[in-house]
Amino acid sequence: VGAHDRNKIMRWLWKLFENPAVYRLNQQLTGYLLSLAYRRLLRRHLELRKGETVLDVGCGTGDYAADFPDQQYIGVDINPAYIERARVAFSRLPNVSFQCLDLNTLGAGDLSADCAYCVAVTHHLTDQELLAFVHTGTRLARRRFVVVDLYLPPVWRNPLGHLLVKLDRGRYGRSKERLLEVLGQAGPRITAVSFDFGFPYPALGVTFATHGPGGASDGR
Ligand SMILES: C[S@@+](CC[C@H](N)C(=O)[O-])C[C@H]1O[C@@H](n2cnc3c(N)ncnc32)[C@H](O)[C@@H]1O
Repeated sequence: VGAHDRNKIMRWLWKLFENPAVYRLNQQLTGYLLSLAYRRLLRRHLELRKGETVLDVGCGTGDYAADFPDQQYIGVDINPAYIERARVAFSRLPNVSFQCLDLNTLGAGDLSADCAYCVAVTHHLTDQELLAFVHTGTRLARRRFVVVDLYLPPVWRNPLGHLLVKLDRGRYGRSKERLLEVLGQAGPRITAVSFDFGFPYPALGVTFATHGPGGASDGR
C-alpha cells in the first residue's frame, strides 16, 4: 500500500469517526476489549500474594478495584469527582478504599504498599511528568511497580489502532520503542516487559524493581 493510498484510508477513517454513533460504539467496544488486555497484563506482571496491599495510582473511577479479592486495594487519584464516584460504587467491598491525592506532592511515608501499578496513565503524561510518576510509584511500593498502558502501533501494521490512539484524549500516545526508551530513563531497574495484542490497541506491561519503605524489592 503506497503513501497515497494510506492517506486516503486515514482520511476515510477520520470521516467515519466524526459520526457520533460510530464514535460512541467504538468507545464502548474498544474500552471493554482494552480493559481485558490490561487485566491480563496486570495479572502477569503483579504476581500478587494473598493478603498483600496493592496501590492503584491514577485509579480514575476505580475500574480495577474489584479484581483483587485476596488483597487490600487502595485507589489513589487527584480528581475528587472520580474518587467520590469510586467510593460510592465500591462501598460494599471491605478490602477496597480510595484516597484523593496528588501523586506529585506526596510526602515520604504518606502512603505505601507491597505492590503498586498504574493503568492507562502514560499516554496522558509528558516525558517529564511520566518520569516523576514512575519515580513516585517505585518509591511507594516495597516489592514492584507495574506500568500498563496502550501504545501507538505503526500505521502500516494497525491503521485502526494507530488512528484511535491519535484520537484519544491522552495526547502522548507513544510507540512501544519510545515508551520503553522514556521508561528506561526513569532510574529504577526494569525487570520485565511484555506485550499484549489487545484490540484494537496493542498494550504493554513493564515491571520496575522498587525502593519503597522496607526496600524489599523482589528484583524480578
Ligand atoms: C486515563 S485515566 C486512567 C484511569 C484508570 N487507571 C483506568 O484505567 O480507568 C488517568 C488518571 O490519572 C489521574 N492522575 C493524573 N495525574 C495524577 C496525579 N498527579 N496524582 C494522582 N492521579 C493522577 C487522572 O486524574 C486520571 O484519573
